[in-house]
Amino acid sequence: MATTSSAAAVALVSLPFPASTSSSSRVSALSHRNPSPRPFRASPIRCSSASPNVSPAAPAPAPAKPQIELEFVGPKPGADGSYPVDRVAAASGEKLLRDVMSENKIELYAPYGKVMNCGGGGSCGTCIVEIIDGKELLNERTNTENRYLKKKPESWRLACQTIVGNKENSGKVVVQRLPQWKK
Ligand code: FES
Repeated sequence: MATTSSAAAVALVSLPFPASTSSSSRVSALSHRNPSPRPFRASPIRCSSASPNVSPAAPAPAPAKPQIELEFVGPKPGADGSYPVDRVAAASGEKLLRDVMSENKIELYAPYGKVMNCGGGGSCGTCIVEIIDGKELLNERTNTENRYLKKKPESWRLACQTIVGNKENSGKVVVQRLPQWKK
């Protein structure tokens, strides 16, 4: 008899619950503190045809656009007697000659035109150039040019009316800047 009561006392002492706790709440609390481990289930291995370590093929580079090479010859020779030449390239058929010159800081206008030009609108006639070579790579003279350049040489153009290339052709165009000033 004494052995049974002492065993019960040991059991109560070893449990971390007050003596008043019911046996069912003890089981519940014990389950919460020490949840029974879930049965191990192996995750299925997923295979993909696309390996993450292989980068996708790079897109093929776009074909190079045809280019027009431009040479701009200055109107006056330098100290050594040679005429200064600026060289640039432009994608064929994408820009006006005036814009190509402006973007590359190549002087187009004489002093009067610098301040009085119409900004490329075809209404001032100050953006004159002469095409020395390669005129077949440019558009035909426009009606605006025919009006402003009626009494000028055939090779003169208005840069704001001149399209550099036709998107398909390529080659070299030589341009005389400020032909009216040429010495
Ligand atoms: S910029 Fe005026 S006509 Fe060309």
